[in-house]
Parts: sequence; C-alpha cells; structure tokens
Amino acid sequence: MILETDRLILRQIKMDDKEAVFEYRSDKETNKYQGSIPETLEEMENFIRKTAKQINEPDTWFQFVLLAKESNKVIGDIGLHFLADDDRQVEIGFTLHKAYQKKGYATEALKSILNYLFSELNKHRIIASIDPDNIDSIRLVERLGLRKEGHFVQSLFFKGEWADELIYAMLKREWR
Ligand SMILES: CC(C)(COP(=O)(O)OP(=O)(O)OC[C@H]1O[C@@H](n2cnc3c(N)ncnc32)[C@H](O)[C@@H]1OP(=O)(O)O)[C@@H](O)C(=O)NCCC(=O)NCCS
Repeated sequence: MILETDRLILRQIKMDDKEAVFEYRSDKETNKYQGSIPETLEEMENFIRKTAKQINEPDTWFQFVLLAKESNKVIGDIGLHFLADDDRQVEIGFTLHKAYQKKGYATEALKSILNYLFSELNKHRIIASIDPDNIDSIRLVERLGLRKEGHFVQSLFFKGEWADELIYAMLKREWR
C-alpha cells in the first residue's frame, strides 16, 4: 500500500525503519502526549512487529511511515486503527520528527490518507483522540476539517493520573 503526495511517499512500516522511527519516537518532550514512548530499540521492534500486516483488518493498527521525497528519509508516521466492532470507522494517530514539524507535512499526508479512507475504502467516520493540551495536534485536525465532538473528563488513566481526552471526527459526507 503506497500513497504519494507532492513532497511525500507514504508506505507501510517495516522492520528496517526501526532506527529512523526510534530516533523521533523516543524523544520524550516531543511525545509527551503519546500513550507510549519507546525506551529501547527492542521496544521499537515490538511496536513494529505488532502492527497489522495488511491494511483494513478490524481490531488492528496499520502503520504508515512518511518519507520525504527529496531525501528518502523517514520523517514521521501515521497509524490507522481499524476498529474492532465497526468496519466503517477508523481512528488516526500521527507523529512527526521534531525537525520536520511546522512545514505542513502532517497535513499533506493526512489529506491523502483521509481521501484514501473515504474514497477507496468507503469508510463512514474517522476519529482522533487528543489530549486537550496538545495544541499542535488540535490545530492539525481542525485544519483538516475534523469537528470537536466531545471533551471527556478524566477518561484515561495516563502516566499515573486521570487525563482528559478530546474526540474529533469527520464523516464521509463532510470530506470534500
Ligand atoms: C501533531 C503533529 C504531527 C503536528 O505537526 P505539525 O508540524 O504542527 O503539522 P503539519 O506538519 O501539518 O504542519 C503545519 C504547520 O506548518 C506550517 N507550515 C509551514 N510551511 C508550510 C507549508 N509549506 N505547507 C503547509 N503548512 C506549512 C503551518 O502554518 C502549520 O503551522 P501552525 O500549526 O503554527 O499554523 C506534531 O506536533 C507531532 O508530531 N507531535 C508529537 C506527537 C503527538 O503528540 N501526536 C499526536 C498524538 S494524538
């Protein structure tokens, strides 16, 4: 599964990507709102091993890496969670290398992914779950046109305390 945008190639993650992905995913400050931060390359390997082999399998995460065309370097990743109970709904997750943030890469990649999910896979609803303090992620999903549907109060037990969670969503009929 390969998607192409003006500046990026999006392809399935593979074990050979472990060092490149670990380089930015292990950055504790950049990833402070993420559910888990790999501490070792072995943890990174386990993460990659657990990702889905094929796209669109219920109850799995399929992981794309983003390659900058100009350098062929991995600059980030986007995960697609195909929900277990409903095969028309997908949750998205996104991470960029700090050096490649604020250049529009995540927006560019996600536009292509949303288009693929709605137009090719005929998905009905795409959601994102975001920490209310994660301003860059909120700006990203709002830029893409996702709507804020809810603010759950202390709905996640996260790093030893209860954390709030925003749910953003977009329906197929809202995708242009
Ligand atoms: C969430 C995350 C991917 C957003 O990254 P980002 O760089 O802000 O998003 P984009 O790549 O789409 O870049 C958009 C920004 O680049 C700017 N930009 C600069 N050049 C641009 C260009 N050529 N085209 C488009 N935008 C450009 C935009 O103005 C925008 O800035 P703004 O948010 O200040 O308005 C990033 O913050 C991240 O990886 N965070 C850590 C992981 C994380 O928390 N993930 C989410 C868990 S829910």
